[in-house]
Amino acid sequence: MSSVAHTLTVELGRRSYPIQIGHGLLNERDLIGRHVPARDVLIVSNTTVAPLYLEALESALRPRHTVATLLPDGESYKTLDTVARILDVLVANRFGRDCVVVALGGGVVGDMAGFAASVYQRGVLFVQVPTTLLAQVDSAVGGKTGVNHPGGKNLIGAFHQPLVVLADTATLATLPPRELRAGLAEVVKYGLIRDAAFFDWLESHADALLAGEREALAYVILRSCQIKAEIVGRDELEHGERALLNFGHTFGHAIESATGYGRWLHGEAVAAGMVMAARMSRESGWIDAASLARITTLIERMGLPTRLADVSAQTMLQGMRMDKKVLEGQIRLVLLRAIGDAFVTADYEAQHLERTLQAHLC
Ligand code: NAD
Ligand code: GLY
Repeated sequence: MSSVAHTLTVELGRRSYPIQIGHGLLNERDLIGRHVPARDVLIVSNTTVAPLYLEALESALRPRHTVATLLPDGESYKTLDTVARILDVLVANRFGRDCVVVALGGGVVGDMAGFAASVYQRGVLFVQVPTTLLAQVDSAVGGKTGVNHPGGKNLIGAFHQPLVVLADTATLATLPPRELRAGLAEVVKYGLIRDAAFFDWLESHADALLAGEREALAYVILRSCQIKAEIVGRDELEHGERALLNFGHTFGHAIESATGYGRWLHGEAVAAGMVMAARMSRESGWIDAASLARITTLIERMGLPTRLADVSAQTMLQGMRMDKKVLEGQIRLVLLRAIGDAFVTADYEAQHLERTLQAHLC
């Protein structure tokens, strides 16, 4: 029997692709083989994930010619230099345009492998095998690839959609608790921007999720991917609605670049950023105090940070000005009209932003 529990589709016309979610997918030879239409395969992973899952993936890909490249682990290595290493391996092995790049790991590996695939010989096929909760609910879906720059998070990159996303939920068993919590931040994001009932569900299942309960995790992966797939299907290149997926990220990316990539996990920075965006929504008169309290409480219950030390409001604002949503010099923010209802605006009072930042910096 197949271990695929759910298949969703990201609808992008001829470039549509499936997201397959299930427990034990990595051990399904037929499944992986069916999705990798190439003789030459480069598996990109890292030094933490490879010892756990590389053998299973290589075995599922037989009899293809596979080469594996293992990147150093960490957000601080999400750079052009590391992508150049991936490209060097492709060239050294004389891989042609008909090769497939497979990303095995979290969002850092997926973003860099995808970026390398997008530029190698002007673009080769690419498969996502996400192994963190964050990557299974967010980064592996939607085709954003790229690297950080000292001047700003994810400033260099390309849209390059995968052929398939294979999310094996069994891999979450080895994920450190801090990484699981970071992934939950992006899950909460979907409830906040689009689905108030899902937010309610998260409030009542937070303990099950934190305990790593299989059914609860499978449900949040499914619901998150449904929401993301719908939004990406309507606005692949982020001309409008897709920006909502950046709820909390304008603040969060500024935290990551101000603190040096890697000190805060991406999901932790997003968590604090979402509480800041919620407070900004309250300051601007959109949401009520009770909604702000519910959001803050859920983030805290999930063991995620809501405050930031040793960074000034000035530094935060500087980082926020490098956000990709900035238009004509104006920082555009994703705010909430209500839990489950987000919108993008540049129409807010500077003093409200200042007050929001002051409330979360200590
Ligand atoms: P990550 O890739 O750094 O992985 C977190 C840690 O878990 C790493 O140490 C990794 O080696 C380890 N790990 C991965 N899978 C494991 C497993 N199954 N068992 C044990 N350890 C495992 O971090 P992440 O949270 O997955 O991704 C964060 C990155 O994703 C950021 O760079 C962020 O910018 C990016 N991102 C991209 C998008 C997008 O749309 N492309 C969306 C959200 C986030
Ligand atoms: N994680 C934001 C996006 O994919 O658009």
